[in-house]
Amino acid sequence: MQQDIEKVLISRDEIDERLDQLAKEIYDDILADASPCPKNGTPIIPDITLVPILTGSIIFVADLIRRLPIKMQIRVMSITSYPGTSTSTKGASVEAALTRLPDNLTGHHVLIIDDILDSGNTLRLVKNILSERNPNSIRSCMLLRKQRPEALAEPCEYVAFDIPDEFVIGYGLDYDDYYRNLPEICTLKPEVYENSSSS
Ligand code: IMP
Ligand code: MG
Repeated sequence: MQQDIEKVLISRDEIDERLDQLAKEIYDDILADASPCPKNGTPIIPDITLVPILTGSIIFVADLIRRLPIKMQIRVMSITSYPGTSTSTKGASVEAALTRLPDNLTGHHVLIIDDILDSGNTLRLVKNILSERNPNSIRSCMLLRKQRPEALAEPCEYVAFDIPDEFVIGYGLDYDDYYRNLPEICTLKPEVYENSSSS
């Protein structure tokens, strides 16, 4: 696996440091949505539902939620957009069998968590599906956002890192479902793509 890496774009330490900041930002915003308890003034945290998007967000969400010391529900959605060895989006669609959304999210503040904002198709689809369930609010949190107009045009409240418009793997992101277990965010050597059946 290591021999396929071209360069490390974001190191483990950089990810750790940024996640500390990001979790604090999210936590502070959740506290701002809280109302004080009439009896003793302590903040009453509203209902929080996290919606991680499978499979790319698994490592990010695992690291982020352990930095958020609040009661929350987690409801996963599975969206397919880069089948197999493709490195450009083929449009987003829901995988119903791996999606666990309640019909009604009234009263809940929803936080979508995903690995990367690229064409924006995935995030738009997920926001549309969630808004039909009537939550109090929908925010989104992306590990990465590519510097391309489509990604920058899609509203997103939290972004851990803005990156150049290139294909990346590691820390949950895959190429043909490989490399998700790399602890850093990296690019692949061109020959890895050249040796695959399609792009
Ligand atoms: P979008 O729908 O085009 O915004 O793409 C979002 C999804 O495409 C992500 O959740 C990833 O699964 C996948 N994706 C986009 N760019 C990359 C990349 O550079 N590496 C790996 N997966 C990517
Ligand atoms: Mg993927």
